[in-house]
Amino acid sequence: MSESIFPADFLWGGAIAANQAEGAYLEGGKGLTTVDMIPHGKDRLAVKLGQEKRFALRDDEFYPSHQAIDFYHRYKDDIALMAEMGFTVFRTSIAWSRIFPNGDEQQPNAQGIAFYRDVFNECKKYGIEPLVTLCHFDVPMHLVREYGSWRNRKMVEFFTHYARTCFEAFDGLVKYWLTFNEINILLHSPFSGAGLVFEKDDDQEQVKYQAAHHELVASALATKIAHEVNPENQVGCMLAGGNFYPWSCKPEDVWAALEKDRENLFFIDVQARGAYPSYTKRLFKEKGITVEMAPGDDDILKNTVDFVSFSYYASRCASADMNEQNSSAANIVKSLKNPHIKASEWGWGIDPLGLRITMNMMYDRYQKPLFLVENGLGAKDEINEQGEIEDDYRISYLREHIAAMAEAIEDGIPVMGYTSWGCIDLVSASTGEMSKRYGFVYVDRDDQGNGTQARTRKKSFYWYKKVIASNGADLE
Ligand code: BG6
Repeated sequence: MSESIFPADFLWGGAIAANQAEGAYLEGGKGLTTVDMIPHGKDRLAVKLGQEKRFALRDDEFYPSHQAIDFYHRYKDDIALMAEMGFTVFRTSIAWSRIFPNGDEQQPNAQGIAFYRDVFNECKKYGIEPLVTLCHFDVPMHLVREYGSWRNRKMVEFFTHYARTCFEAFDGLVKYWLTFNEINILLHSPFSGAGLVFEKDDDQEQVKYQAAHHELVASALATKIAHEVNPENQVGCMLAGGNFYPWSCKPEDVWAALEKDRENLFFIDVQARGAYPSYTKRLFKEKGITVEMAPGDDDILKNTVDFVSFSYYASRCASADMNEQNSSAANIVKSLKNPHIKASEWGWGIDPLGLRITMNMMYDRYQKPLFLVENGLGAKDEINEQGEIEDDYRISYLREHIAAMAEAIEDGIPVMGYTSWGCIDLVSASTGEMSKRYGFVYVDRDDQGNGTQARTRKKSFYWYKKVIASNGADLE
């Protein structure tokens, strides 16, 4: 076994999100959120994109988030499994509507605070650092109905009140925070990304960039508040990452890839550098967008994040003549299919070198520590006759990506940690399926919600345990 090139304090662990794991969607005083309204089945995409308004639950539909994997009741056992693998970090999110069921209250819901305090205490019991996302795709529905969600500037106030409440309530338990999960997904999946629903006459680009501005201001203010509450707090932004490759070396394709990258990096450019990037002036002019800013916003945005976190599943590919026909939305960010890389059963590219490329680009651009907070392979698992799950395909995906991350560290990039996505099987955000599994731990539940919810360790569980014990030196 070679020597580890990972720093001694490197954080190893896994990630989940409240809406994909907790279930108990109306327990403990929780209010309904956007994700609770997104059904499994044929209407899912239209609802996620904000094209089909779903403000009430229907009897004829199945909503995977309502029970999910019942983490709400099983968190003690689940965290014990993570501790058994040797986790030193566990990423989860707080459901905003457990703390403020409607989102615009002054007083928080004590049951919600108590629940998360228990979860974080449970982590601490095993020496696991919680890494906590304040908003992972779940906006309280009341804020959507009454205020139009992030189209409305009032959201800044509601979010910062929520953020302060969390920083104060969990002070001493949580020091690593993320404001918005995959903030750039707002552009690609507006309802699930930011609670946006469109009316017929809406200029959608205008609505999306205005909402983005509100989120960016809210994120910067939350960062400031986190530091005021406790200077030890470290706050990160979070990008749905993966560089765009040009389809060819034709200059027009190279330019198309650069523009596509900017579309996503715009958010991180603001959060990590503290101002709108210069290219937005022309972009907004050409799109006919006028972002309304309040006096003082420029100063607020100067509250930059401490680190840059991101998810990486695959690289992307763009050309000058990319269109609806030749690009695929297998992953919610549209991309051409890259013929040089393999793909998962769900058509997501598999490109470990792309991770090293993405990390180098991000560090060159931001010069802030990186944290890879989502990465993994969604795959179908079979239980064999011995009751075991031999997920060698998952091990091989993770091995290659961890090796690529190690290369990035050798390239000189400071990396704080790694939390693989869905360390325990959970509901897929894109499809609502349970069968798209990422976990080291199998959960007995199917796409229709049947199953015992029993947990079983997969082969990858023992493999990851070894990886962590060797601080990334033993990937075999
Ligand atoms: C990211 C999200 O987009 O990718 C997660 O932050 C999501 O919430 C993950 O689950 C994997 O995507 P999917 O669609 O396979 O669940």
